[in-house]
Amino acid sequence: MLNLRQLHDAFATRFGAPPAFVVRAPGRVNLIGEHTDYNEGFVLPIAIDRATFVAARARVDRTIRVHSAQLDVEDRFSLDRIEHNPDQPWSNYVRGVVKAIRSRDLPLSGADLLIDSQVPLGAGLSSSAALEVAVAYALQLLNDLDLLGEELALLAQGAEQSFVGMQCGIMDQFMAALGRAGHALLLDCRDLSYRPIPIPLRARVVVCDSGVRHSLVASEYNERRAACEQAVQLLRARLPRISALRDVTSAQLEANADLLPPVVHRRARHVVSEIERTLAAAAALERGDLAHFGALMDASHASLRDDYEVSIPELDTLVEIARRLPGCYGSRLTGGGFGGSTVSLVEEGAVDRFAADLVAGYRERLGREAQVLVCTPSEGVSRVAVF
Ligand code: GLA
Repeated sequence: MLNLRQLHDAFATRFGAPPAFVVRAPGRVNLIGEHTDYNEGFVLPIAIDRATFVAARARVDRTIRVHSAQLDVEDRFSLDRIEHNPDQPWSNYVRGVVKAIRSRDLPLSGADLLIDSQVPLGAGLSSSAALEVAVAYALQLLNDLDLLGEELALLAQGAEQSFVGMQCGIMDQFMAALGRAGHALLLDCRDLSYRPIPIPLRARVVVCDSGVRHSLVASEYNERRAACEQAVQLLRARLPRISALRDVTSAQLEANADLLPPVVHRRARHVVSEIERTLAAAAALERGDLAHFGALMDASHASLRDDYEVSIPELDTLVEIARRLPGCYGSRLTGGGFGGSTVSLVEEGAVDRFAADLVAGYRERLGREAQVLVCTPSEGVSRVAVF
């Protein structure tokens, strides 16, 4: 990843004039509350200290030119004709955001954008949301749009849903926009209210990228989401007042399990129990009970593996190894699943040893290379340099 000076110079070389500014938007790692956001439940993520950077400058015409330093490719399109670009999938996140702003009838001029990122692609750390939110924020600054915070997050989510075709929830974009340094956010995905909860200094959030990338994420994800909606439809026969799985308790679900096909029942059981675990985990974190927090992380992983069926053997192996290492409170897959990363909560003093042993154990068991990132909770989107 280029530093700010290099980003400035690369921009000037490519576009013939320096950028007006650079913005950054972070990736995220979810501590617990997986596949609950689109069920109007709770999530408990942190924004991480790895971000996507966008250097930007307005143009006088109606063209968006966007260059990815990471991939060394460029895309260019007119504000008046924004179509899906099948040849450059990365650019559809940018196109989707521009289109979402255009569809709100907000005034928008052309722009030159140079993008670089520290968030590994496809690792389950929301590189896509970081890109969407960084681009939306850069465009809002260039055009004085007054699109901030929650609204920025909702616009970016809408772009991903309608333009990229992933029916994602709000968690990732919300954290890229509103993450808080030193804190996890207990986010209520029904009304978007949230409570920042400090991460105790004696614990570290350790991400481990399995190196596995899954190409069918969007279809599998959308299918899980559809199963949750089907569960709500069927449960309404006896629980007419529910509008999302958020409204169902574990006891209600079990009492009405006969209404559901077995697979749909298992999917719903994950969501309902995960929402309960997330609230319990937030309470445990608040009272500093990291052992209980870790046990809930472990239970979350088991539920994602067995009931929601979004894990893969590589993630299960990483979690198994992590759980046996000294200083590990808990470990689970993080993000949508089907590849990507695990997250573990680890005692501060044990982190170096934990990281080395996890990578070595994974190599020994599966012959694969894992990448460890020790993460610090960081702020959401901001402008980091003005030129
Ligand atoms: C992806 C989606 C999020 C969320 C997670 C699973 O990251 O973008 O909205 O649903 O999966 O928790």
